Amino acid sequence: GPGSRRAVRVWCDGCYDMVHYGHSNQLRQARAMGDYLIVGVHTDEEISKHKGPPVFTQEERYKMVQAIKWVDEVVPAAPYVTTLETLDKYSCDFCVHGNDITLTVDGRDTYEEVKQAGRYRECKRTQGVSTTDLVGRMLLVTKAHHRGQEMTSECREYADSFGKYVSEVVIGAPYAVTAELLDHFKVELVCHGKTEIVPDKDGSDPYQRERSHHGPHRPAHHQEQAGVRGPEPEEGGQGAG
Ligand code: CTP
Repeated sequence: GPGSRRAVRVWCDGCYDMVHYGHSNQLRQARAMGDYLIVGVHTDEEISKHKGPPVFTQEERYKMVQAIKWVDEVVPAAPYVTTLETLDKYSCDFCVHGNDITLTVDGRDTYEEVKQAGRYRECKRTQGVSTTDLVGRMLLVTKAHHRGQEMTSECREYADSFGKYVSEVVIGAPYAVTAELLDHFKVELVCHGKTEIVPDKDGSDPYQRERSHHGPHRPAHHQEQAGVRGPEPEEGGQGAG
């Protein structure tokens, strides 16, 4: 019966240096593909050999990965190349990696063997965040700080572009903004950036509910709902961006 179904064990591996939301997104997607998530983390020596030394030590990286709520188990000193032997050793059904290719020092795909055996699954890589990028930002900020100067406008702009003025994140939000969702989160206004609104799978407008179903206090400014809100006509408006 369904109660006796064997748990699906999922394997992930990587450097997980300076853990960021790209990594936690990857582990969240991987965990959703099964029931139990095991994450192999590479040693400093292995990483240095294949792509250059990490910022955090292996002991620190093990702790950071273990702290992610979707991780059930961490395997220290996991080999850089993912083999069937490793998957079998930890009784994992398959491994999951972001849709970017990882090469060894001699240019081989580190997932070649498991891909061929059909024990590889892909998840979506998170755009706009990486360890390299984080290191770059830290260098810019520290340089200005130590000179005791104002940040240059270029530096300020770079740092600001990463500011996240968000009170809450809804993981797994539906594509279409439903009436239930608006009620649940007590939303008064839905905003969308200046990009095109891509229709839902069935061709419908994801903001349809929002446009046709105004709540008691919502202003009926249809054009604003499909764009970033510009400054208010009154003083003190918050500009977009
Ligand atoms: N990953 C992701 N999104 C990111 C960064 C990493 O989904 N923005 C995923 C990778 O695809 C991989 C896992 O996180 O499956 C571990 O990645 P890691 O080995 O730490 O290295 P990088 O991919 O190089 O990550 P970064 O550039 O941030 O160091």
